[in-house]
Amino acid sequence: MSSLIAMPLRAGGPSVLRLAAASTSRRVTAAGLYPLMTASLHTGAVARNAPAPTPSPKTAAAAAADTTTRALSQEGPRSEGAHYNDKTEADISALIDVDKPGGWTLMNPIYTESDLDSVKVVYRKPENIADRAIRGSVLLTRWAFDKFTGYKGTHITPEHLKTKTIEQLRETGDLLSDKAWLKRIIFLESIAGVPGMVGGTLRHLRSLRLLRRDGGWIHTLLEEAENERMHLLTFMTVARPSWMTRALVLAGQGVFYNLFFLTYLITPKTAHRFVAALEEEAVRTYTHCIEDIENGLVPEWNDKPAPQIAIDYWRMPEDASLLDVIKAVRADEATHRFVNHSLANLDQKHDFNPFALGEPAPEIRGSIPGFTREESAKYANETQQKLLGAAKEQEKQS
Ligand SMILES: [Fe+2]
Ligand SMILES: [Fe+2]
Repeated sequence: MSSLIAMPLRAGGPSVLRLAAASTSRRVTAAGLYPLMTASLHTGAVARNAPAPTPSPKTAAAAAADTTTRALSQEGPRSEGAHYNDKTEADISALIDVDKPGGWTLMNPIYTESDLDSVKVVYRKPENIADRAIRGSVLLTRWAFDKFTGYKGTHITPEHLKTKTIEQLRETGDLLSDKAWLKRIIFLESIAGVPGMVGGTLRHLRSLRLLRRDGGWIHTLLEEAENERMHLLTFMTVARPSWMTRALVLAGQGVFYNLFFLTYLITPKTAHRFVAALEEEAVRTYTHCIEDIENGLVPEWNDKPAPQIAIDYWRMPEDASLLDVIKAVRADEATHRFVNHSLANLDQKHDFNPFALGEPAPEIRGSIPGFTREESAKYANETQQKLLGAAKEQEKQS
């Protein structure tokens, strides 16, 4: 039973039994991974991209340092950065999950087509002054960022296209080009990966400090941080950010991390509500982006294939498109919106995380802002009953 409790379960995802099998294979193969990685780091015999060694009068120590640098730092063929997969000819990731290539240690979302299309732009109605202040601060931040990046949010109709070409609409700022979309998305995703890690870190430290359990919040928050980082890495495979964008990312992280850290430390409820309000805006922006692509307004992305990293992460079919990827990203943002609004409605000190054992179906996460505290309690209860029932069924069969 303890292994069931430790496994996050997604509605619409694999069965409990299959999860148990996948979990076992992960444990076994993780141990087998180390010798493979060690072999590749020490011998260099299987390095895919290592340049041919050049004779040099360097000392043995310097040569050894060079070899280490080559083994550890050489980036693979993709622009999202170095990965241990790049170091070996064998597909190590296939060993981690026997079903599909690409192994992630944290739970990752899998969507059907109807899940992806069920996401809606929804907003939680503010209930008090604090809610209004948070929503106001998010809208103000958005307004400033829109001005800075030249995003007008115009919804281009066939009428617009009768008088202006796509190029002309881009010049007036009514339409974002593929590069302009990427610039905006990369900056925002680099910021979006911060809150989950800050919340997870602070709750982890609290658990250590008070010598008590956390109620399952940490895992969900770290999953969110990982998920946002995967968004960033996915878009990095199609983008080439300028030094200006990189400088902005650096400055933005420095400011936002510290502000969010202090906010979470003082009032975690406010921090979760703030993230949820940000995610409401993210769903709105990605919905606009999806509409533009579907209407052929970003011709560079017509039938553009999905990057491999995205196919692996979201377990997409090999012929998935970039549009499918952006729909999956939007569904993730809707989940963050739902989870953070729901967490903000809880007692931050005493309630356990209702989504520690599983999350509601994607249509629910994508179409309502969040659960009230009572709805969370009911959902957690139902999930627990379902898992207990599945565990009993498993016992009977074995
Ligand atoms: Fe994101
Ligand atoms: Fe998000």
